[in-house]
Amino acid sequence: MSKTQEAWSSRLGVILAVAGSAVGLGNFLRFPGLATQYGGAAFMIAYFISLLLLGIPIGWAEWTMGRKGGLAGYHSSPGIFHAIIRHPAGKYLGLLGFIVPVMVYMYYVYIEAWCLGYALNAATGNLSLPGMNYSDFFATFTGTRQDGASIHFGLSDVGIFVVIVYALNFFFIYRGISKGVEFVCKWGMPLLILIALIILARVLTLGTPDPAKPDQNVINGLGFMWNPKEIATGLKNPQLWLAAAGQIFFSLSVGFGAIITYASYLKQKDDVVLSGLTAASANEFCEVALGGLITVPAAFVFFGTAGIVGMGTFGLGFNVLPHVFAQMAFGQFFATIFYLLLFLAAITSSLSMLQPGIAFFEEGLGLGRKAAMGVLGLLTALGTALVWWFSKDLKALDTIDFWIGTVGIFVCGTILIIVFGWVIGIDEGINEAHQGAEMRIPGFYKPIMKYITPLYLLAIFVMFLLANIF
Ligand code: PFF
Repeated sequence: MSKTQEAWSSRLGVILAVAGSAVGLGNFLRFPGLATQYGGAAFMIAYFISLLLLGIPIGWAEWTMGRKGGLAGYHSSPGIFHAIIRHPAGKYLGLLGFIVPVMVYMYYVYIEAWCLGYALNAATGNLSLPGMNYSDFFATFTGTRQDGASIHFGLSDVGIFVVIVYALNFFFIYRGISKGVEFVCKWGMPLLILIALIILARVLTLGTPDPAKPDQNVINGLGFMWNPKEIATGLKNPQLWLAAAGQIFFSLSVGFGAIITYASYLKQKDDVVLSGLTAASANEFCEVALGGLITVPAAFVFFGTAGIVGMGTFGLGFNVLPHVFAQMAFGQFFATIFYLLLFLAAITSSLSMLQPGIAFFEEGLGLGRKAAMGVLGLLTALGTALVWWFSKDLKALDTIDFWIGTVGIFVCGTILIIVFGWVIGIDEGINEAHQGAEMRIPGFYKPIMKYITPLYLLAIFVMFLLANIF
């Protein structure tokens, strides 16, 4: 049993920390990338259904189970499952809540390093040199040039940023829950929203930058993302339903073991129902209203559909957008704050992927904080090196992300809701959630959490298997 005395210092602190975990690269890059890939409106329908049937209820289950496990003295997902299920097999079920966030961290932190690197390169003007070829820059930066041309160690080399970003993450994790995670999120989240609003105002006033191409205007840019087209065909695609459900899990950080760990530092009288809903709403605002209105319209007004279709999530963010910024007035400034925004969004998320790992090594192996950090640091660094090796082509990252960030979480989310509704039992689970709650879970969520959410997950999974494997 863990002897940690760690706790959140305020209600706002824990909400900002969970919102910080939720708001991340998923909101500003992954969401617009997927929504455009799956045809905008059709994707949004599946997305909102998944929000109501998966994100919100599984989030409540996770907050509740985390607090319950924490009160029993556990903070790692295996420990919490063990305490709740009261059977040795519980540990193994909970193991995924350690494995998945740590694996996501391995590639997520690598992109986080790109964000910091791009922010500094933008600030110093390296990203807006005349006649610049952005794919070349990207390949040099990530050390993946086919021609083997020299790689510099400096601002134009990703390695140094990986080291900086690792150091920052582990420094804040070392400082602990309230002095580390809560501190970063309390400052980072308001700043992030402010920056996003400034960039949004810039994008929405871009008008029609090239009079020779009147169709490439902001309205059409927004339309490209949001227009209802081919909805019926889109909705018949099982991959779309899986992607939408996966995005809900990924974006809300639900089903990963991140929220369960954060919630384990709550006290008995702390609310989980309203806090969970508030953090989820903050995430949706940042995703749909901010993330959905910035990158795609900006790319569209300068490059039309060619700038978006087939670019993949990362291609849009790191090949197309630097080019976009280079073309707009005050582009250097906007590029700098945009990549800073991505970096802030990313670090508040990556911290929440490390905490489950630290909790696991402290509890499972009985290690002290420093030793746990050492083991986790080595393990993740090895993983990040592998990701770097495999990501010579940007599409590989999208594939890694699909298997871990969509399929992996899908399985975790299913386990969570079944344990909540069937092992703890829906009545007891909801009673538990209502302890200290400032809002009650609406009555109609009871059958949803017990039957509809698991059936919905099963349906998507079967559709996915039928479409991909058989
Ligand atoms: N929610 C984060 C995002 O949208 O970028 C990603 C994330 C955070 C995934 C925390 C997993 C996690 F445990």
